[in-house]
Order: sequence, then C-alpha cells, then structure tokens
Amino acid sequence: MLDVRKIREDFPILDREVNGHKLIYFDNAATTQRPRQVVEAIAEFYLKHNANVHRGFHTLSQEASQLFEEAHEVIARFINAYSWEEVIQVANTTEAINIVAQTWGMKNLSEGDEILLTVMDHHSNMLPWRVVAKRVDARVKYLDITDDGLLKYEDLSDLITERTKVVAFPMMSNVLGTMNDVKRIVKEAHSVGAVVVADGAQWVPHAPTDVRDLGVDFLAFSGHKMLGPTGVGILWGRRDILESLEPFKCGGDTIKDVTLDSVVWHDLPWRFEAGTPNIAGMVGLAEAVRYIQRLGLENVLQHEKELLIYTLRRFEEELGDEVTIYGPKDPAVRGGIVSFNVDGLHHHTVGKALDLFGIAVRTGGHCAHPLHYRLGVKGTVRASYYVYNTVEEVDKLVEALKTVISVKERLAKEPVEEVCTGG
Ligand SMILES: Cc1ncc(COP(=O)(O)O)c(C=O)c1O
Repeated sequence: MLDVRKIREDFPILDREVNGHKLIYFDNAATTQRPRQVVEAIAEFYLKHNANVHRGFHTLSQEASQLFEEAHEVIARFINAYSWEEVIQVANTTEAINIVAQTWGMKNLSEGDEILLTVMDHHSNMLPWRVVAKRVDARVKYLDITDDGLLKYEDLSDLITERTKVVAFPMMSNVLGTMNDVKRIVKEAHSVGAVVVADGAQWVPHAPTDVRDLGVDFLAFSGHKMLGPTGVGILWGRRDILESLEPFKCGGDTIKDVTLDSVVWHDLPWRFEAGTPNIAGMVGLAEAVRYIQRLGLENVLQHEKELLIYTLRRFEEELGDEVTIYGPKDPAVRGGIVSFNVDGLHHHTVGKALDLFGIAVRTGGHCAHPLHYRLGVKGTVRASYYVYNTVEEVDKLVEALKTVISVKERLAKEPVEEVCTGG
C-alpha cells in the first residue's frame, strides 16, 4: 500500500490553492506533477555537474556522461530491457513513434502492405503510421472496440493477414483507461511476422512493464507522465531491429566516422540520439524512475484501481443517470482514468466549473478524436489519477459535480468557448 500522506509531502504544488480551494490535481494522464527529489536532481546536475556529454576528457564532461549513461541503465532495468544500449532518449512518446514509423516503416513497408492500428489510438500513435502509409501506398486497418471499451480481440485473426507488417496500439487507453491484453496482440502479430509497436505512454507510469515478457518489438513512453521532466521520453527497441536501421535525425553523436563521401553510424543508442541530448532530462527521469521503484509499481497500480473503483461506485450511487462514464465496467482491465460526460452539459463547461472548485480535469478529445467519434461524442471530461491522489479528493469531485448538476439549466445557457486545444 502507498503511504499517500507521506508521498504528498514530496509535491509542494499540491498545497497550492486554486480559486480559493486546495488544488485537486486529476490531470495526470496529460502530465503528472514532479516530486522534490526529481526537481532537486535536475538542479544538482545543473549546479554541480553540467557539461556536454561524450565530447570531452575534462572532469565535468566525464561526470555528465556518467550520469547520462547511468540514466539509460536505470531506465533499462525499469522495463527489463536486455541492455541499456536499447534505450534511446527521445523527446516524448510522439517523437519515439515517429522515429519508428520514419525509420523502420519507411525501410520495411511498401505498396499493399498492411498496418494494423486501433480505434482507441492516441493521434501520436495513429498519425505517424498514416503518414508513412500514404507515402508508400500501404493500407491502414483498425481494430474496433466493444461497447464496453475493450478491443475486439476476436477480430484480430481476420484483420491480421500475411500482408500485415506492423501492429501499433496503446497498451492503455488515455480515454477509456482500458488496459489492453498486450501479449495476446503480440502473439497474433508475431504469427505472421509483423512487428509490434507498443505505445506505453499511459501504461509504463502505472503498471509493471517487462519488455522481455511482453515480447513487443518497440516501446514508447514519456517522462513527464511519470513524475519526470518534460522534453524527455524513451524509445526502446529490439537490438537486432535497431541495428538494422539508419538514424532518423543525424549529425553530431550519431556517427563513428565521417569522410567527405562516407559515414559509419555509431553504436546503439547514440546512433539515434542526434546532437546534444537532454542530459538534465535524463537525470531527472532516472530520479523519477527511482522514486516510482521505491513505491513499487504493483502498489501504484493497486492504489489507482482503488481510486477507480471508488469513483465508479460513488458516481453510480450519487450521480446516477446524470453522468455517462466511458470505458470498461470491470476494473480488472482498467487503470485509474475516468472519462465521463454530464447529461446536457458541454464537457468544457463541466471542466471550467470544476476548476472553480480547484479541481483540475482535462476536457476535449484528448488527442483521440476517432475514438470519440466511435463513442458518439465530441469530447469528454477526464479525471486521471496518480500516486498522490486520495479518496477524499474523489469525494470532493463528486460533491462538486452534484453542485454543477444542481445548476445545470443555468450552466447549459452559458456560451461554450470552442477552444481548439490541438488535442
Ligand atoms: C496513449 C498516449 N500515447 C501517446 C501520447 C503522447 O505523449 P507525448 O505528448 O508525451 O508525446 C499520449 C499523451 O497523452 C498518450 O496518452
């Protein structure tokens, strides 16, 4: 079990007041908060060790290089990679998937090949493949969801054919909270020799991830969704595949040697880390990983599931038909994400109203517009949990929603700002 009260002491931002109320931060699927330890590790790097990596024999450069390489190792152990060299520092999940699509995809896909995605994909998983498909004239197919928000696994055997070259999907939906059966998808994809790209943006921060056990070929995730800094993410890939690829971006650090008419690419992971990397970001991410490991990912997941179960129960008991909740009813296949709509109110209206109670939720299409079209709605309100959230905060959400519902006729008349969030 997590000692949430103690954890909260590491997050000074949670003491903030917003609109006269203590902040309740339920926007963790977008980005989490950072504990003191992570901020301090980054500050210490800049204040005591800052230098560029891999380019100098002076002491500071050696120290910076060591911290940077250690960070790769910490992250490799976290996901049980075979080696730290398979761990590539990128900016975020979006960049990681774009790299795979532009390198592996452009090299291996051709006319008539098939790419299998899912209806619940985040745009960051869906669009990079669609762009490549258009260029090479490949065909994109989608695995649909059931009305309960689960992938229709029974359709896999029809959708995956001898022409399927890649299957890319979110391990956990950022809207429905569905935790997908990764191994089942891997098994079907590998039966025809397709490569599996797992979007771990919402899974890796919340549940144990073991790339060897899962059997995926690529895994992408973001530091900022797991207590780490923004601007740093990870692409993990199977060594033999990574070694067969040329860099997506090239320049400094990506080479072993260059003459005026030849280039020898560097070993992994440097081949894919072009230019000065996000050194401080990796130092911060490694600290975030250590923090999560101290808590234990099994405990993190259990805590979030408890909040989920509590929310689903309280919503049903207290809000009834006034609220529609999306995603699986069975918490066994779901993480700590609750997307919903209040009957008769625009999602943005609800989000703005909750902010008046100091409650931060996300509203909109959550970078998953096709999924929302599939659900038959334009957007949803999303509460997403992490290690510092409490049942008392969920109670406050329920009370705030009751107040919102009690004045909903008046709220429904208020003009809705149709903000384009790009998401
Ligand atoms: C499932 C999923 N995939 C990919 C992303 C993209 O992450 P990033 O914006 O860090 O690149 C997100 C972000 O919300 C996500 O939830």
